[in-house]
Amino acid sequence: MCGIVGYTGGKQAKSILFEGLRRLEYRGYDSAGICVVSPDGELDCVRAVGNLDNLEKVLEGFDMPGTLGIGHTRWATHGAPTESNAHPHLDCSGDIAIVHNGIIENFTRLRHELSERGHTFKSDTDSETLAHLIEEHYRGDLAEALRKGLSQVEGSFAVVAACRKNPGEIVGARRNSPLVVGIAPGEYYVASAVPAFLSRTRTVLFLDDDEILSIGSEGLKIILMDGSEVQRDSAEVGWDIDSAEKGGYEDFMLKEIFEQKKAVEDTLADKFNSRGEIEMEGLDLSGEEARNLRRIIVVACGTSYHAGILAKFLLEKWGCLPVEIEIASEFHFRDLAVAKGDLVIAISQSGETADTIASVKAARKLGARVTSIVNVVGSQMGRDSDDVIYTHAGPEIGVAATKTFTSQMAVMYPLAMSIGLLRGTVSSEICDSVMKELRSIPSKMENVLDFDGTVREVAGKFQNCPDFLYLGRSFGYPIAMEGALKLKEISYIHAEGYPAGEMKHGPIALLDDGVPVVAIATRDSVYDKMINNIEEVKARKAPVVAVTTVGDTRIADICEAVFEVPETMEVLYPLLTVIPLQLLAYHIAKFKGCNVDQPRNLAKTVTVE
Ligand code: F6R
Repeated sequence: MCGIVGYTGGKQAKSILFEGLRRLEYRGYDSAGICVVSPDGELDCVRAVGNLDNLEKVLEGFDMPGTLGIGHTRWATHGAPTESNAHPHLDCSGDIAIVHNGIIENFTRLRHELSERGHTFKSDTDSETLAHLIEEHYRGDLAEALRKGLSQVEGSFAVVAACRKNPGEIVGARRNSPLVVGIAPGEYYVASAVPAFLSRTRTVLFLDDDEILSIGSEGLKIILMDGSEVQRDSAEVGWDIDSAEKGGYEDFMLKEIFEQKKAVEDTLADKFNSRGEIEMEGLDLSGEEARNLRRIIVVACGTSYHAGILAKFLLEKWGCLPVEIEIASEFHFRDLAVAKGDLVIAISQSGETADTIASVKAARKLGARVTSIVNVVGSQMGRDSDDVIYTHAGPEIGVAATKTFTSQMAVMYPLAMSIGLLRGTVSSEICDSVMKELRSIPSKMENVLDFDGTVREVAGKFQNCPDFLYLGRSFGYPIAMEGALKLKEISYIHAEGYPAGEMKHGPIALLDDGVPVVAIATRDSVYDKMINNIEEVKARKAPVVAVTTVGDTRIADICEAVFEVPETMEVLYPLLTVIPLQLLAYHIAKFKGCNVDQPRNLAKTVTVE
């Protein structure tokens, strides 16, 4: 949550910072601001409440010359989204400006102590504490002041600071919040995520926790909390800038829905060797280790959790061992009975979700092996895990996860199958036939996307319904959950995802002719049971929209609308059935005039517990 940027180089900083913030706006849009160090050594700061359009308007009337600056787009934690709580924050003297992402957990005590020593606070934020701490320790060396200040801080932070007395220097640091450096000839960018500077450079340097970054006339330097210096190599990222642009689509979300074929293809590309055999890049599990596994625990939040439910089903089916699925925000607070012999699979698009990271750390501490499945290269979760498997969905800018969800699910097939093969619990014939069909899924996804127009029509019919119920069984169950989550987060319509068999144990009481039911009813082993559920729904006069297999007239005859997906194997249907539900949520939200890329109250990455 919150996006931060910094720039130093030969160009004017204002527009570069603003462009960087635009690309990070998915991280928060409660308020925004930038600060540029002017040629005569002043800090020019501009802040505005609301999203970046508001900041842009204010900036229009503001000349901000200078080639070094910092910027921030905020998702409010401590303090309401007001201008005084917007970043950058200044110290008392107005010499030092900071932007911060994370939570300073001991800020109440620090603020009290700083106030007693004469510091005056101008905001309600925890972040402002950092500006005052740097001020207290500043003796001309900005990086040293930051290092000393941070030694008093508990919590998580990515922080970038500038000081008018050190006009050519930018400093930063991180702990459990991301901060990455972009390097171009004569220029440096600092940001929460790579898309902030992807149009300018692909050469990046990832900072580790508790490292202090200083970029000045002598170039880039990294120092540790004990004051010693470390060297770090840069790397090249594979993402290209087109993947972070709307490319003619009205919204990022729609573009990302339509990118799913490519996202899944790219994700699968490094899961097979040249002979077409599964070779999971990133997973280093021997046959003996796989056979000795006691159980697998899958942890994740939100949409990634729904991919985790599918993972459980597949791992049980092919790995033939106990698999538990856990919501990360519950998991790490318990007295865990996790031990050596357990494999924890953590799923996260961002690799930054605080609860999933905390779960990874807790599980490793107890002796479990941790494999994470992550989309963002270089993210914290990957570094905290034993193995990292990447989805290669490219940057996802829309706040609602779409292409990263299908990519996460796509990883689960070769992953569960390879664990099954290592354990000797699945045959190579089954593996070959599933993997062959898996490779045909991207082109089938394209067929599903073709009926976007039909989904839009249906969305128009149901746009004013205040409640929806989504039902699915077996492999349809995680998709029902995901369909409901998509609808509620972008259209603000109440929706429940439920295992269809549970409907009679409560939710059926909600049904009447004003509550549409979205049923996942493909031709599979639970098809007849789903038809029974649909009949029960119809008997209560609720309209039914069903996701079915192509040519299914039986269901078409009893439902108000159907979205047909191509025939595939039962286990693979989730990769197809979720697409019409993403489109349904999208079109309903658009009919209602919602901002689908920036739904209210949400941020793309949840870096607080
Ligand atoms: C929903 C959504 C969220 C995320 C959740 C986990 O569309 O995007 O529910 O899935 O915040 O985020 P990651 O996958 O980054 O750990």
